[in-house]
Amino acid sequence: MPQQFGDYQNEIYLHGLGGVLPTLPMAFAELEARAEAALPPSVWSYVAGGAGDEHTQRANVRAFERWGLHPRMLVGAKQRDLSVELFGLTLPSPLFMAPVGVIGLCAQDGHGDLATARAAARTGVPMVASTLSVDPLERVAGEFGDTPGFFQLYTPTDRELAASLVHRAEAAGFKGIVITLDTWITGWRPRDLATGNFPQLRGHCLANYFTDPVFRARLKQTPEENPGAAVLEWVGVFGNPLTWDDLPWLRSLTTLPIILKGLSHPDDVRRAKDAGVDGVYCSNHGGRQANGGLPALDALPGVVKAADGLPVLFDSGIRSGADVVKALALGATAVGIGRPYAYGLALGGADGIVHVLRSLLAEADLLMAVDGYPTPADLTPESLVRLPHHQ
Ligand code: FNR
Repeated sequence: MPQQFGDYQNEIYLHGLGGVLPTLPMAFAELEARAEAALPPSVWSYVAGGAGDEHTQRANVRAFERWGLHPRMLVGAKQRDLSVELFGLTLPSPLFMAPVGVIGLCAQDGHGDLATARAAARTGVPMVASTLSVDPLERVAGEFGDTPGFFQLYTPTDRELAASLVHRAEAAGFKGIVITLDTWITGWRPRDLATGNFPQLRGHCLANYFTDPVFRARLKQTPEENPGAAVLEWVGVFGNPLTWDDLPWLRSLTTLPIILKGLSHPDDVRRAKDAGVDGVYCSNHGGRQANGGLPALDALPGVVKAADGLPVLFDSGIRSGADVVKALALGATAVGIGRPYAYGLALGGADGIVHVLRSLLAEADLLMAVDGYPTPADLTPESLVRLPHHQ
């Protein structure tokens, strides 16, 4: 029987009968406000901030308000089935956790990558583990339980190092490699610039490099002996301005599914498909990289059309279960969240993430029940109405 995610509300109301109220926020605005209070200011501004005046970041969120889901009655959607097929895997829901490079630092104990992996194990919601993590990828994968995980690659300039990271991810049991294309250079981020704060330069979240034999072989002294020199070496290898010519090489590194993250233009999607990738990931990095103004949601229909049957992952701006449903209706195969689960982690560790995931899924499930769309396949662009005025 497929999981009925909406049952989470029964649990909460039943607890309420016994006088036990939720300690974690039920609304995104409160989640955000309480995370701000819980996190050290430098981590908060790094996570919450974005590029430029953060117009794109806000536009990502507001884009969802311009669509309305058309309710359909007498469907009898008593049982919903939110499961989806992705790269030969059956996932209980279309939700996944997008890679967040400083997720490690968002946990009170400083091991947020492990807490995220534990939340994935408990919910069946996959984690895409970032290259930038406090704990090495092998330890993160060790916490996944039966939930599949994906590894996000920031492709270094050293091809041998890139190969080593991919092969380590394969050996650790990851089920796919997400290659992020939009972050070979850091976008202009006023909040971080104002505080002169870039966590990696302070040596944070570099465990995958510092434990890597290829990376270590580049150093005269080990990262333990001379952390400063290791960070400088990292600065030198981190960002690779990839071109289309690099794709065959990346493809040759693994037989795991390869997904390109950061695609938005249909021509890029077609070209990626021709190059033999297994999935495309429509995202503008949550508005953190370029303040270009195009909400990721507005790019999604063009990406889906150009992908022509290839799975399309989507993120940027998802804040509610209704947003998940709208992204599915516009053709996403799977829908990711970034900041929301980072905030849940900040407030309640793995329990906080589980709460955020269950709440999003419950809201999506109940919306699909009420509005008569029992499965993701029932949601199509025709299920949505484009609203005439920005509310
Ligand atoms: C990110 N994101 C990101 N993406 C990626 O491919 N590798 C990474 O290491 C990171 N790191 C990262 C750190 C922080 C603090 C945030 C908030 C985001 C982008 C992430 O995967 C995703 O695209 C966005 O977070 C989605 O937007 P929302 O859900 O935050 O609006």
